[in-house]
Amino acid sequence: MTDRGTNDADEFPGSDFFIDEVRREGLLEPPGTEAVPHDGTGRVELAFTVRSGGDAPPAQRSVRVPPGVTVFDSASWNGIAIDSTCGGHGTCHKCRVRVEGPSPVSRHDVRTFSREQLDDGWRLACLVQATRDLKVDVPPLTTRPKAATVGVGRQVILRPALQKRYVELDEPTLADQRTDLDRLLAAIDDLDPTADLHVLRRLPGVLREADFKVTAVIIDEALVDVEPGDTTAERYAIAFDLGTTTVVATLLDVTTGTPLAVASMLNRQQPFGGDVITRISATMLDPRALERLRAAAGETLGELAAQVCGEAGVDPAHVHEVAVAGNATMTALVLGIDPEPLGVAPFVMSTPQPPSVLASDLGLALHPRARAYLFPALGAYVGGDIVAGMLATGMDRDKRTRLFIDVGTNCEIVLSDGERILSTAAPAGPAFEGGAIRCGMRAADGAIEVVKLSPDDGGAVELSVIGDVEPRGLCGSGLVDAVSELVRVGLLDASGRFVPDETAAATVPALADRLTRIGEERVFVLHRPEPDAPPEDCVVLSQRDVRELQFAKAAISTGWTLLLEELGLEHRDVQQVLLAGSFGSYLSPASAVRIGLVPKLPVLRIVSAGNVAGEGAKMALLSVRERAGARTLLEEVTYVELSDRPDFNDRFVEQLAF
Ligand code: FES
Repeated sequence: MTDRGTNDADEFPGSDFFIDEVRREGLLEPPGTEAVPHDGTGRVELAFTVRSGGDAPPAQRSVRVPPGVTVFDSASWNGIAIDSTCGGHGTCHKCRVRVEGPSPVSRHDVRTFSREQLDDGWRLACLVQATRDLKVDVPPLTTRPKAATVGVGRQVILRPALQKRYVELDEPTLADQRTDLDRLLAAIDDLDPTADLHVLRRLPGVLREADFKVTAVIIDEALVDVEPGDTTAERYAIAFDLGTTTVVATLLDVTTGTPLAVASMLNRQQPFGGDVITRISATMLDPRALERLRAAAGETLGELAAQVCGEAGVDPAHVHEVAVAGNATMTALVLGIDPEPLGVAPFVMSTPQPPSVLASDLGLALHPRARAYLFPALGAYVGGDIVAGMLATGMDRDKRTRLFIDVGTNCEIVLSDGERILSTAAPAGPAFEGGAIRCGMRAADGAIEVVKLSPDDGGAVELSVIGDVEPRGLCGSGLVDAVSELVRVGLLDASGRFVPDETAAATVPALADRLTRIGEERVFVLHRPEPDAPPEDCVVLSQRDVRELQFAKAAISTGWTLLLEELGLEHRDVQQVLLAGSFGSYLSPASAVRIGLVPKLPVLRIVSAGNVAGEGAKMALLSVRERAGARTLLEEVTYVELSDRPDFNDRFVEQLAF
């Protein structure tokens, strides 16, 4: 949060100039640099120039985020590393970036930068809220941190399971006939690993070829390889967010916690169906489908691994560990475990904690002994992706009352009051992913992602379209925006019905002509490709679409309403709502509040949390303590089953209204 400073000169001990002086010189709040107040709607674009030092040309990356997200978080969501040791809390003063364009100066900026630097746009990235389009210059990393920042400003002390030790050994002699392995292990004084066959096969050759100067590669308790020379600077791992729709891979340098490359693609299991239920059904209908689904997941992970390694110039054989955060069905399928019991009552998992396996068991061609860590799951519908998300958002270590909502086909909800943590799952259906929506599409080029209606401004319909191209359809965030705006201007009533034509003409005349029909169904035209295009050729929101969204939001709000009741809490007690997942993070907080998808709270309490499952996967690779924390969450979180509650249906009906 941007802090505009105070008048108290004592606030700046050690600073070479005082706040009044700064203010007099117009540096603290130069004209036009005030933070732009935002209402939680729309998107802002951040154009990053990322410098890596040396002769390498800087990389250019543009990202679009909801307004109010800090520059630091926007970068970290997108795998852009900015120096930090405090986890984005404004205390380490390391996250220095140069912002082109007006940006308010915080008192921490005043402590950190010289007058000239402030003038030149230098700011602390974790204190700059992106409330308008900005250009951001990221200097090369300077620190070799003991900690890395992940998740929603969480700081992880670096203690990866993947360790390397460089040793220079005495060559054997007739007087010293210790075995090769004893010689190596004796030189590693802080770890006591056991060797597997792979390493024993390589050890004699590598030791002699490298003049007994080698690096031991250790994962957890296992010595998995020995490499000639000193390779301690090369410690790589890949974090996967294995989503039902989209899979994201981040290649990490685990020595520094730095992401080196990020890539995403659609899950290759798509042809078997868009959601977990259709994929489970596929395995029930065809005995060969399980093997095909397993292979498709493996191919997806493999392709992404090749992509991130290629981009960062890292040999895949030098990647020694991967972590996978996926829902219970995705986890079962990638392991080749029959998912049928997950899809039918009473919804039972084969195990909450998948075994430790090799990356090659998942179909990955990395180091032959690379390990794969798969997140544990709380239940059939609160899976490893949510456990990873809870880890990334620190749900178990924050004393505030926080509500975590991962919005998707299956929506997972977690509520913590600082003492107890409850979780549940709500079947929201495919509306948010564009399924079952007349002009619905995924968040890809051509998708309308933001809708603003200004009936007093000549009937303006303002659309933001991904890729800045001709609108082709409506993605989840655009759908929520469209409905919320139509409710706001009075074209949809609280029951979710389009108002009669006469009412529309009388109350919102400037937009009334957009309310029309396709066949019997009433639709609102969002985009006409040609001025006289028939509604069938337009991007429209139909009455049925509104109903789909209504059911989805009612399922979700019933979920958190019942969790709030379980803990004896009211809406206003919730201090922070975290919207997670590839859809939730891009939802407009204002629209989410307006349609009742989240509790009625000031928009500043609604925070886009980014890809928290992927962030949790990174944490598991960077710290064995965090990995243990994921296991502990299984004991700390109580799962609440909604479907067998006698009051569920009544509550659901109550929540249908906008
Ligand atoms: S001050 Fe530490 S991350 Fe910004």
